[in-house]
Amino acid sequence: MKFFIDTANLEQIKEAQDLGVLDGVTTNPSLMAKEGIKGQENILNHYVTICNLVDGDVSAEVIATDFKGIIEEGEKLASLHKQIVVKVPMIKEGIKAIKYFSSKGIKTNCTLVFSPGQALLAAKAGATYVSPFLGRLDDASTDGLELIEKIRIIYDNYGYQTQILAASIRHTMHIVKCAEIGADVATCPLSAITGLLKHPLTDIGLATFLADYKKVNG
Ligand code: E4P
Repeated sequence: MKFFIDTANLEQIKEAQDLGVLDGVTTNPSLMAKEGIKGQENILNHYVTICNLVDGDVSAEVIATDFKGIIEEGEKLASLHKQIVVKVPMIKEGIKAIKYFSSKGIKTNCTLVFSPGQALLAAKAGATYVSPFLGRLDDASTDGLELIEKIRIIYDNYGYQTQILAASIRHTMHIVKCAEIGADVATCPLSAITGLLKHPLTDIGLATFLADYKKVNG
């Protein structure tokens, strides 16, 4: 399973990259706003900076919601850097745009997916990635992981190449469960990635090994 980091924060992206396990980055307008990135030029420059920090795909979301606007914005984003993936919302105009981008060889990430039917449409339109938001479903008392399972079954039934990018991940168990289900990618906050390192028995075991070494070697 690929690990993407879900942030526009450069320090966190660098930290995940330094860990050596990062495969890409996802952003959204809220994450960009959180970092205080505003104005068209600054936003585009920020995407390029992120692309230059990592090796893999970097999702950059369109703001337009009409077909023509999504195409114009998406083509501009895609021309910024070969690692850019155009992130398009799961709406009617978005699906048409994904089909268009797919025919032009432009990578897409269909975002704001909350049902198996939406994921099926995204795959049929030729999306490179589909982003089911599991944490937001959990927040609304609905099992987000069940959605990932259903999408996996549907895609495997028909051999769809669209990659399941589990999004809105909140904690380490979401990551582990997504790996068990067979999600292709998990996009996570840094805290969830580094959280995978932790186990008290590892800390206790290491302390014992070091103490035993010291007893004999001084
Ligand atoms: C990523 O592609 C999504 O935009 C993101 O994971 C949403 O996460 P949130 O529900 O924590 O805002």
